[in-house]
Amino acid sequence: MNVLVVGGAGYIGSHMVKLLGGQGHTVVTFDNLSEGHRAAVTHGEFVEGDLHDRTLLVEVMQRHAIDSVIHFAASALVGESVQNPAKYYENNVVATFSLLEAMRRAGVGRIVFSSTCATYGQPEQVPIRESERQEPVNPYGFSKLVIEHMLADYAHAYDLAYAALRYFNASGAAEDGTIGEDHSPESHLIPIVLQVALGQRSHVSIFGDDYPTADGTCIRDYIHVNDLASAHLAALERLEPGTGIKLNLGTGVGQSVLEVIETCRKVTGHPIPVEVAPRRPGDPAELVADASAAWETLQWKARYTELEAIVATAWRWHQAHPRGYADRG
Ligand code: UFG
Repeated sequence: MNVLVVGGAGYIGSHMVKLLGGQGHTVVTFDNLSEGHRAAVTHGEFVEGDLHDRTLLVEVMQRHAIDSVIHFAASALVGESVQNPAKYYENNVVATFSLLEAMRRAGVGRIVFSSTCATYGQPEQVPIRESERQEPVNPYGFSKLVIEHMLADYAHAYDLAYAALRYFNASGAAEDGTIGEDHSPESHLIPIVLQVALGQRSHVSIFGDDYPTADGTCIRDYIHVNDLASAHLAALERLEPGTGIKLNLGTGVGQSVLEVIETCRKVTGHPIPVEVAPRRPGDPAELVADASAAWETLQWKARYTELEAIVATAWRWHQAHPRGYADRG
């Protein structure tokens, strides 16, 4: 396949590029480097460009005879989306509209899109099935849900073949430790805990210990980035014109914030001091996937089922690159 990976210099996108390149597919990364890192792109050609530049997109798709697009580019911080929704509608909805129009113009009819469990809002039932009502509780979730609807409308009207993959909590790093997570500022739990283990932070703040869960802290479903990448490849192979696949990508197992910290203590051997802080606005108590539909549809399931194994890959990356891609030159 000739695949355009939009946002391929980002955390999840770069693991996708590595998988596609490693399997011999032609891969082209398109990224504006607003969040991503040039050094994270390990295979294929890199094009620095913005999704609003439709002319460039069409030119790149035609020049490389692209047949499929995998679209990771997005703003993805819940709290920021509440403060600055315009950024989310612009970078997610408007930019994706531009991408879809460029695809139409270039005659590219297949796309796999990064959706999110945030489209469910506060779910009524956990584990969450794809049939759960989608009522986001923040602009980030809304922006992703709008795109899911756009894709369905384009499939109906223009025969687009699409998959919308609703990720739970992406985590971990490449097995060889060459690429991994590097956000600035960092807001995600596992890298923050590992920064404490590296001596870069004094402690971890636990955002709320009074949730209605067994230990009072929030529960999430941590899924390894390589598992996410392999699901995208499986989805690409199943796409059919005029129809969409909508699937949760998770392990089906939840871990509390305290359990994550305990696992990081075990992996790193560091005591990792904690402080209880107020709840973070917009955090649902529990988000865990029912991942059975991905198995039925794609014969895909997560290979990393132990949090300890996931954290071990992240720890390898953070130890080798304590300042992230700044250490890759
Ligand atoms: N947490 C802490 N302390 C921290 C950081 C996080 O206690 O310093 C807690 C959060 O409150 C949450 C859990 O750890 O309960 C996980 O938080 P993350 O920020 O790592 O991940 P989220 O679940 O908030 O976010 C993920 C994705 C988002 C997506 C969201 C959907 O990273 O892109 O799920 O709810 F929008």
